[in-house]
Amino acid sequence: MKDFWLQLNKPVLALAPMAGITDSAYREMCRRYGADVVYSEMASVSALFFKPEKTLELVKFNTSERPYVVQLFGKDPRHFAKATRIITEKIKPDGLDINFGCPAKKVFGHGSGCALMPQKELAREIISAVCDNTDLPVSIKIRAGLKNINALEFIENTKDLPYSAVMVHGRTYEGGFSGSVNFEIVEEIKKIIPDKIILANGGINSAEDGAQVLRDYPLLDGLGIARGAWGRPWIFNEIKNAYLNDGACLPLADIDYDFPRIKKIMLEHAKLIYAGKGDTGKFEMRKHLAWYIKGFPGASELRRKLVTAESLEEIEKILCV
Ligand SMILES: Cc1cc2nc3c(=O)[nH]c(=O)nc-3n(C[C@H](O)[C@H](O)[C@H](O)COP(=O)(O)O)c2cc1C
Repeated sequence: MKDFWLQLNKPVLALAPMAGITDSAYREMCRRYGADVVYSEMASVSALFFKPEKTLELVKFNTSERPYVVQLFGKDPRHFAKATRIITEKIKPDGLDINFGCPAKKVFGHGSGCALMPQKELAREIISAVCDNTDLPVSIKIRAGLKNINALEFIENTKDLPYSAVMVHGRTYEGGFSGSVNFEIVEEIKKIIPDKIILANGGINSAEDGAQVLRDYPLLDGLGIARGAWGRPWIFNEIKNAYLNDGACLPLADIDYDFPRIKKIMLEHAKLIYAGKGDTGKFEMRKHLAWYIKGFPGASELRRKLVTAESLEEIEKILCV
């Protein structure tokens, strides 16, 4: 099986995994607007081990999303092994990712996600359990550190294992989602494992941010974008434009993401949500639509109408597109 990570053009721009957000419709939108690879919401290996149906539904995808990576979380290597086989056989994504970065109480508190970073033997067992049970390329997502272990030690401890890529959230566990982002440590990781793909993640919220990080840290292979893509799936194209134009970010007008265009993109997204989830996608759709209009004149009035819309036709009418 070919390793898609090695075939991507650089800089690689990835839609980072986000529980409750990176569903099929949103991944598709991000691919259409410049993301080179997209991650699923995190999927529980224990759920896959005991009762896989719901989780398989969560991570199913359309081929137009490829390259598509399913992210797994948990703490039991036996569960990782079986979940890996199930996802490989039944979902057939392009890659599998292991979550070593999540600080959320219900993940961390159970010993999964970022709680695994200091557990040297267990972390190795989990990576091996995944790599040994699939022919798909495996990646990992880690944080800059947690308590007394930093990302460099974690990488030193696992560097001989055959994973292909690492996304590093440059904040520590203690830094949560708003602390300072350490991109130096991400570049240091690349020096330890130069043959693996290294993506930096954290706090990249505009084309200028993205281009700046790529310029300042030239060893990086690319970036992972999470909240910066909320209501702006085109941020991936914008970062590429800004970077390729030697830092001179093209004005928005050049790519024409003015409000009429954005309303069309909103409808495009709403149609994908309806096609995938029907009426049950209503609540997620409201969340996404509200993000798109943030900051535009008349946004609060438009938001009020959109969050009570009951059908695609109603949304189309409200947006007047
Ligand atoms: C709502 C939300 C859900 C997230 N879910 C996941 C997840 O399922 N797996 C994961 O590894 N990280 C998850 N993250 C972390 C993001 O992938 C990313 O590392 C973090 O938000 C920092 O990037 P940003 O500053 O670009 O948002 C989540 C973040 C948010 C805000």
